[in-house]
Amino acid sequence: MSNLKQQVGIKAAEFVRDGMIVGLGTGSTAYYFVEEIGRRVKEEGLQITAVTTSHATYAQAEGLGIPLKAIDDVEYVDLTVDGADEVDGHFNGIKGGGAALLMEKIVAVNSKDCIWIVDESKVVETLGAFKLPVEVVQYGAENLFRKFEEKGYHPAFRVTNGQRHITDMKNFIIDLDLKKIPDAVALANELDQTVGVVEHGLFIGLISKVIVGYSDGPKIIEK
Ligand code: 5RP
Repeated sequence: MSNLKQQVGIKAAEFVRDGMIVGLGTGSTAYYFVEEIGRRVKEEGLQITAVTTSHATYAQAEGLGIPLKAIDDVEYVDLTVDGADEVDGHFNGIKGGGAALLMEKIVAVNSKDCIWIVDESKVVETLGAFKLPVEVVQYGAENLFRKFEEKGYHPAFRVTNGQRHITDMKNFIIDLDLKKIPDAVALANELDQTVGVVEHGLFIGLISKVIVGYSDGPKIIEK
């Protein structure tokens, strides 16, 4: 097997069984999970329906012939497998490095079970070294940016190809350079109550398992 991301992606696919509605994550690690699900659908006749967490994952899954539905056309998702940017010992984490945090969180909260797949570099004691992505509506985004500056959150609009990044849901991303987040729950609550914030990349209490890629193979860590 060529790399840690591929190993954890393939390992996570072992949790997928016939009849499931499966949430397909976004990013370079989730990519391998989606590829493996596509392989199993094609070669093993795996019978599942999937929902996706970004336009990019939709395109990948469609190309692999994975049967797809919209999130609003399923009552719930049985299992979602997604990547993450950081995860701590309480199974809380940061997502959104790939700017898909809003769709990812909507799929996660509609899932009975969520597994994250990461390589060992993403397991941390305290969240925050990775810049926290916050998805904000375009209207009033400058004022929100200034508020984050005043709070000392060191915000930066995410830029792609020289332009402010526009998410799949047509919003901006402001990345907060916090270095350390001593109380992730409190910060999540604060951002939840901030007008103009659509969603943030703190995922609190949403996952049951993390599959971590180590050089000697993937390890499953359960809550
Ligand atoms: C996208 C995400 C990704 O899951 C996260 O950024 C991890 O990506 P990768 O596996 O490429 O490191 O949250 O919004």
